[in-house]
Amino acid sequence: MKQNEPVLRSMPMPKDTNRFGTVFGGVILSQIDIAGALEARKTAVLNFVTVAMDKVVFTNPVYVGDVVSFYTKTISIGDTSVKVKVEVKADRYDGSGKNIPVTKAEITYVALDDNKQPVSIPKK
Ligand SMILES: CC(C)(COP(=O)(O)OP(=O)(O)OC[C@H]1O[C@@H](n2cnc3c(N)ncnc32)[C@H](O)[C@@H]1OP(=O)(O)O)[C@@H](O)C(=O)NCCC(=O)NCCS
Repeated sequence: MKQNEPVLRSMPMPKDTNRFGTVFGGVILSQIDIAGALEARKTAVLNFVTVAMDKVVFTNPVYVGDVVSFYTKTISIGDTSVKVKVEVKADRYDGSGKNIPVTKAEITYVALDDNKQPVSIPKK
């Protein structure tokens, strides 16, 4: 995936860790969901909810103090849904300068109207 500016950056804190001291996967998943939703909102200013998050694999741990970057790309736009790819990388806090791939996910968001029913996304 071509790496433009990340839509989101974060720095995990000690409260975000599991019992092994690395960052809890659910924290990263939550931020992946937010990053993907920000990408979906580029398609249209509508209320998007997550309908599906496809296979997610964590390939490397994230540590407290790492700078975690979330890169996004719109894969496809349907009638009411947008499919987005999110790639996550961590810049190590230890000064090594290493930029480590952490995880990837594909997420589908659906645009909902005020009655929480799927609504068509305006064509650009
Ligand atoms: C989003 C929701 C309204 C969709 O309801 P639905 O009855 O499946 O709606 P539809 O069948 O009309 O599908 C709507 C769109 O979602 C897509 N979709 C539905 N289920 C999907 C799935 N499992 N994977 C990928 N896309 C899916 C459909 O393909 C359709 O896209 P399109 O219009 O671009 O072709 C409903 O599933 C819902 O409210 N889910 C909870 C969402 C939520 O609260 N998320 C936060 C996490 S708790």
